[in-house]
Amino acid sequence: MVLAPMAGITDWPFRRQAMLHGADKTMTEMISAMGLLQAPRGNIAYRHLLSYDESETNLSAQIFGKDPDFMAEAAAILSALPQYTGLDINFGCPAPKVTSSGSGSALMKDIPRARAIIAAVRKACAKPLSAKMRIGWDSHSINAMDFAKMCEDEGVDSLCVHGRTRAQQYSGRADWGQIALVKQSVSIPIIANGDVFSVADALVILNQTGADGIALGRGALGKPWLFSQIKQALAGEAVSLPDPQKALVTALDHLEDMVRMKGERRALIEMRKHFAWYLKGTRNAAAARAIINAAEELETLKSVLARHFLAEDHGTSAGL
Ligand SMILES: Cc1cc2nc3c(=O)[nH]c(=O)nc-3n(C[C@H](O)[C@H](O)[C@H](O)COP(=O)(O)O)c2cc1C
Repeated sequence: MVLAPMAGITDWPFRRQAMLHGADKTMTEMISAMGLLQAPRGNIAYRHLLSYDESETNLSAQIFGKDPDFMAEAAAILSALPQYTGLDINFGCPAPKVTSSGSGSALMKDIPRARAIIAAVRKACAKPLSAKMRIGWDSHSINAMDFAKMCEDEGVDSLCVHGRTRAQQYSGRADWGQIALVKQSVSIPIIANGDVFSVADALVILNQTGADGIALGRGALGKPWLFSQIKQALAGEAVSLPDPQKALVTALDHLEDMVRMKGERRALIEMRKHFAWYLKGTRNAAAARAIINAAEELETLKSVLARHFLAEDHGTSAGL
């Protein structure tokens, strides 16, 4: 069970919650190889990107870029850091600011360059190397199997496949059938990714794809316990339903870590989106969200959350 990398979201406070709730492996947000090499020493953005918690035991750093030499240089730096147990190459990002420079999912259209990147990074990194890919650039150029085989040939140790094309961005449905084809065409472990929002989704994607694992992205937002619920189901155990008290403890613990990492002011802003996710599907969520979004004090956030989750009429909510 892997926590999929999400820019702006998978900092260590969120990764820690995922881990506490059953994720076996986590990833940093994507890190620009060129940006890392050129950033002034102590640059706050890169300090945050590389920031980790001592409790993290299976964390990979994800890099993106289009230049094999820069990628290799960044890989050498990152893979030498003790906090990372592995390195991951991003071949999936659909954002125009990334693809327009030929990085991320644009590399699925340029297999020779992608191959050169992997070869260079492979040489520079002695730790396990994974890659994250989509199924192709668009519906006319689906090349997931060829791309996966190339990754395997160049020494990638495991692959996470998001079952969408770049053109789909995050819309439509992930094509789990393509992930199954990739699984059949290579022998390295395949992590299936895309549209797992529930225990039922997890069981179906594993069954349909034969994948060796699952990466959860959006499904884990505000619901990190989905990891342990899936594990319980896979072990044939009863799936425990987190109660409002546990949701509150998780959200407050997450907030505390965010304050430790980014300071009170930044935590106040960054936690708004996380709290909206924790509240999603609970009764009277809109009212609580409105107060949280306007709050200027951490104490206000905490008391609104406590009131919300411990309210007597809260009941069992769809969101939990
Ligand atoms: C806000 C956001 C940021 C993301 N950032 C990254 C990233 O930095 N690197 C990456 O490989 N994928 C990134 N992704 C893609 C996710 O890792 C994942 O492949 C995608 O969301 C599909 O999985 P899901 O349906 O479980 O969310 C991001 C997705 C979202 C929603």
